[in-house]
Amino acid sequence: MSFLSATLSRVKPSPTIAVTTKAAELKAAGRDVIGLGAGEPDFDTPQNIKDAGVAAIAAGKTKYTAPDGILELKQAICAKLKRDNALEYLPNQISVGTGGKQILYNALMATLNPGDEVVIPAPYWVSYPDMVLLAGGEPVVAPATLENNFKLTPDQLEAAITPKTKWLIFNSPSNPTGAGYDRAELKALTDVLMRHPHVWVMTDDMYEHLAYDGFEFCTPAEIEPALYDRTLTCNGVSKAYAMTGWRIGYAAGPVELIAAMRKIQSQSTSNPCSISQWAAVEALNGTQDFLPANNEIFKRRRDLVVSMLSAIDGITCPVPEGAFYVYPSIAGLIGKTTAAGTIIENDEVFATALLEEADVAVVFGAAFGLSPNFRVSYATSDEALKTACTRIQEFCAALT
Ligand SMILES: Cc1ncc(COP(=O)(O)O)c(C=O)c1O
Repeated sequence: MSFLSATLSRVKPSPTIAVTTKAAELKAAGRDVIGLGAGEPDFDTPQNIKDAGVAAIAAGKTKYTAPDGILELKQAICAKLKRDNALEYLPNQISVGTGGKQILYNALMATLNPGDEVVIPAPYWVSYPDMVLLAGGEPVVAPATLENNFKLTPDQLEAAITPKTKWLIFNSPSNPTGAGYDRAELKALTDVLMRHPHVWVMTDDMYEHLAYDGFEFCTPAEIEPALYDRTLTCNGVSKAYAMTGWRIGYAAGPVELIAAMRKIQSQSTSNPCSISQWAAVEALNGTQDFLPANNEIFKRRRDLVVSMLSAIDGITCPVPEGAFYVYPSIAGLIGKTTAAGTIIENDEVFATALLEEADVAVVFGAAFGLSPNFRVSYATSDEALKTACTRIQEFCAALT
């Protein structure tokens, strides 16, 4: 019998972290690898936010805080939710954790019993199914299609719901596809949820501010106020504020659920880093002026990557509304042979061959629950993107 817990055997390590690690190893060995695997902006944290962190250290704000966050940050989050999402919350309805990841994990740990089902639209962020499994629940994957731009239809949602469903996890704009639901598309899904009062919705609004071509972000509790009492609205500062290393995420929801999440946090990590919390206060209350400027850059990169990948025979690359990912299909390349003699049987073989033969690291689609595709993160320099896409073009042109 293994010394390790049986629960652990149900989960796998994060494949996105695995790709990033492999690319880093090859780089360290002297190879000129371009990594398009990591899901973090290449921008530095804005200066005013860094200054707030430094000021917090200087002022001695370096001690334990309340387990789920300082009041000043909870107030800043309430103000943000009102300003950006027309949602009214009080500080006792807010939970702050060590990144969006811990917030989602706490919520699942706080609510799932064995056999409880969680509907996860695919393609999904890699961590959702494994977090559900770790919490003792059962992930139920609801597959969307490329034809519908990777967005779940009301019928597909309806088909995934059973009497055992506890949550729908809803992520828009999406990692890995960048797909964002507009108001009508989201209303059609919340209408389905209104017919199933036992189902709650856990939103993942991490990419809220990363939207292009006038796409307007919306979130379930805003679109259907009747869902307010069974919605946990989750968000964080990692992506939009280029604060991935600071580790601050948050959730807003019913008091009882927030209290349950606090209990878990108080017995696991205690509070998120005090210094990071003060920096996050500045992120949410301070100037938001750099957001449109960053989005201009992201949009330019998205357009560059979409046009260079779309030019490849056998690749279809939809134009996403937001985030910093594209999720092209390689359906037209399956069965072909690379210059080194590898047969592209599936997207994992494609991604491995691309790394080994063309020095470009991407993440294969099977990791996100929809194949045959791969995910490109365009949160890297224009220069690197151009070179990487040229390499992908040459790699594909050499296929026979
Ligand atoms: C969809 C999505 N949700 C949550 C997270 C986690 O964010 P954080 O770094 O704040 O834990 C990520 C990060 O990759 C993400 O892509």
